[in-house]
Amino acid sequence: MNNRTITEYLTGPEGSEWMSRIYREEDIPAQKERYKQIFERFSQWSGSEKFLPVRSPGRINLIGEHTDYNHCPVFPMAVDRDIIGFFSPRNDRKVRIADFNPAFGERDFFLSRQIQPHPGGDWANYIKAAVQGLIEETVVPAEEAVGFNLMFHSQIPPAAGMSSSSALVVLTALVFLHVNNRRMDKKDLADLLARAERYTGTQGGGMDQAAILLGEAGKAVKIDFAPLKTASFPLPERFEILVAHSTVEAPKTREVMDKYNRRSIECRLAAALISRFLEEKGQPAINFLGDLSGSWYESGKGAKTKLQEVLKTDGYSKEELCRILKVNEKELNRKWCYRKDGTDFPEPEEGFLLYKRAFHVLTEWNRVEDSKNALLENRITDFGRLMNESHGSCRDNHEISCPELDKLITIGNENGAEGCRLTGAGFGGCSVHLVNKDKGETYRKALLEEYYNKYLNYPEGGKMLFSVKPSDGAAILEELINE
Ligand code: GLA
Repeated sequence: MNNRTITEYLTGPEGSEWMSRIYREEDIPAQKERYKQIFERFSQWSGSEKFLPVRSPGRINLIGEHTDYNHCPVFPMAVDRDIIGFFSPRNDRKVRIADFNPAFGERDFFLSRQIQPHPGGDWANYIKAAVQGLIEETVVPAEEAVGFNLMFHSQIPPAAGMSSSSALVVLTALVFLHVNNRRMDKKDLADLLARAERYTGTQGGGMDQAAILLGEAGKAVKIDFAPLKTASFPLPERFEILVAHSTVEAPKTREVMDKYNRRSIECRLAAALISRFLEEKGQPAINFLGDLSGSWYESGKGAKTKLQEVLKTDGYSKEELCRILKVNEKELNRKWCYRKDGTDFPEPEEGFLLYKRAFHVLTEWNRVEDSKNALLENRITDFGRLMNESHGSCRDNHEISCPELDKLITIGNENGAEGCRLTGAGFGGCSVHLVNKDKGETYRKALLEEYYNKYLNYPEGGKMLFSVKPSDGAAILEELINE
């Protein structure tokens, strides 16, 4: 394992810039203290002389929301808010994990071919998801696997759209691979972990795991799916990304999970209807909206005209869907309308809104492509406008915003944001604001005063508003230091 002391890690070999790549200079002393404290508690708790540090960042998404599960692109970045952990291998098949914050307690379980989940909502299910995924796909065969001790500490706000859960999944996967002497290409690992995280019940896409693993300091990463491809683009120095938490938590409880999964189901149903339409015209079938050709998304207008030919704008009942897709209800539920726990996904009161959801996804796809070009050509005003348009579509078409997030965006726009929008799954959580650094101070004050003080009457707004720095992706620290 390691041959460095904790102090050597924190200093790094001469010339090593690993901490400056990840954290802001002014935060480094506090970060060093944080690493030391976690290390000390880890040593006492594990009784282990051996250790390695590991880090997994949160992410914000600049643009491209609810597109990933359709295999359409996203444009996120890994950030300095992160989870760090210390771990050591064990000689047995036990996995022992503890949150540095004693309030969250400790969990353990034994490695096996089928690891039973804790009750829904337990944080340790993210640990199990990673381990189970690597075992199931025989990267680490169950019979040979050894366990580990892991203590971690998170600075990613939970249930806030910054991927605190996926960061924990990725962190665990890196640890489990390391103690079992396995290596994996980061893209393959991102793909595997996107599948693995469905263990917890969400029918999500692959953005979070890819952004967390493949992030690069100073850059935003455009990610395309199936096959996974990434391209990094520097963010101009004169702008900063501010995160403002709405304070509305959106934990992946059954209710929020249903809201999220409903969008995923509606998009897959939309793809199925479009596929039938294409086949009837003698064109190739599609599985995902992302399989459509450019003429479906390249201009917002194109998406509207094309979609209106195929989909009606109001809701579909299950009965109607069965008729169009030529399946019975059992088949419909088995293929599309299901939950992880085996129950059928019910028909929403207003029906499944396929047109609205597909319209959001196709126009958002177009916005991601346009925003990439805008960034490349340093057209930040255009980039910001696209962020604003994205928020509008998230609110009106995908319906994933909430009054608090909308209020934050209105205040942002009134106070000179280049662009601002909700980030992540939505239904609460954080907003991101692209702001010229010259305006940073007055902008912060405006949000504090108008949103946290006046609108929410929330005294601790200062803690909910912070700027983020694009950082490197997740790694066992040794790798970052040696880079
Ligand atoms: C969550 C999911 C992602 C993605 C976003 C919305 O973060 O985990 O896969 O769908 O929501 O863009």
